[in-house]
Order: sequence, then C-alpha cells, then structure tokens
Amino acid sequence: MSEQLLRIRLARPEDAPAVATLIRRVVRRWVLPDQPRKAGQAFLLRITTRFLREKIVEGQRFYLGYLGDVLVGVSGMRDDCHLVHFFVSTRYQGRGISRRLWQRTMRDAVRRAGTRRFTLNATRCGVPIYLRFGFRATGPEQISHNGLRVTPMKMILPATRGKRA
Ligand SMILES: CC(C)(COP(=O)(O)OP(=O)(O)OC[C@H]1O[C@@H](n2cnc3c(N)ncnc32)[C@H](O)[C@@H]1OP(=O)(O)O)[C@@H](O)C(=O)NCCC(=O)NCCS
Repeated sequence: MSEQLLRIRLARPEDAPAVATLIRRVVRRWVLPDQPRKAGQAFLLRITTRFLREKIVEGQRFYLGYLGDVLVGVSGMRDDCHLVHFFVSTRYQGRGISRRLWQRTMRDAVRRAGTRRFTLNATRCGVPIYLRFGFRATGPEQISHNGLRVTPMKMILPATRGKRA
C-alpha cells in the first residue's frame, strides 16, 4: 500500500466526469485489447459522464478511492450484490488498492442487504484478481449480452456464527 492513506467514499452525481475519465482510460489500456473490436468500442461509448451520473442518481453505489486528492480507483455495485465496475488507474495498480475498494464495497452490501452471494462478469485481466478475492468461475469465458468477452464469477460468503454486539 502507498505511504499515503487510501480514502474511500461514495460517489456523488458531480463526481461523474472524474469517474468517466478514469474508467475510460483504464478500459482503453487494459480491457479493449482482449475484446471484440465493435463491442469494445460500444462499451467505451456507453461510459459517459451522463450515463454514470444517471446511475449514481438512480442509486447505484460507486465507491471512489483517493490518495490525497487524486482519484485512483472506482468500484460500482448494483443491487448490493453484482459488481459492475472495478478499475484502478494504471500507475496505482499493484498496491493493494482494489483489495481495499472491494472490502469496503462488499462490507457495505453485507451491512445494507445481508448479501452472502456476489456475482460479476470478469474481463480477462480481472480474473486473477477476483480469484484472489475468493470468487470462482461459474462458467467458461463467454460473450455477454453486450458482446463483451467475460467470465461469469460468483463468491458466497460463509454464514456468520453470530451477530456482533
Ligand atoms: C483489476 C484491477 C482493478 C486490480 O487493481 P489493483 O489495485 O492493481 O489490485 P491489488 O493490488 O489490490 O491486488 C489485488 C490482489 O490481486 C493480486 N493480483 C494483482 N494482480 C495479479 C495478477 N496479474 N495475477 C494474480 N494476482 C494478482 C494481488 O496480489 C492482490 O492479492 P493479495 O491482496 O491477496 O495480495 C486493476 O488491475 C485494473 O483496473 N485492471 C484493468 C481493468 C480491469 O480488468 N478491471 C476488472 C473489470 S471486470
């Protein structure tokens, strides 16, 4: 982890431009090379400030990771159980930021909804990281409804033994 403290907070609608910039940069560099060209470009076109602002306003939860005042990572959770966005800026990768983001995102879903089963559709470079988090593939790599090449994965949390005081 960096010498600076990672601060994580929920996104507000006015964060949408910064979130869009981060996601689009990371997608271009790391996701598109493994994707069918057309579907990759269509995905990139969908990730706009407007699209993200709408999602935030609708109540989709985006967690933003900051080092100082630099936005370094984002996770997006739908319905407290399905991880839809998960990105760390290239220069900050490999420092444990995504693990911290995931822990916070998961913890909030457990608290809010008692979620025990999490799902996601992993791009190729995400698969090894999700395996480290405890996700397992539920099927082979496949083409999703929007034409992207993904591996469906899930994680089931063990039942808790008792409630904390
Ligand atoms: C996937 C991504 C979010 C990971 O972010 P990160 O901050 O670099 O990840 P971390 O440093 O927190 O590493 C998380 C864990 O994965 C492990 N890991 C990281 N890269 C790995 C790799 N290539 N192979 C195997 N394990 C790896 C780390 O060792 C760490 O495990 P540990 O906590 O048990 O030691 C980031 O690399 C990214 O944005 N990639 C491009 C976009 C993408 O693929 N997003 C997923 C879309 S589904």
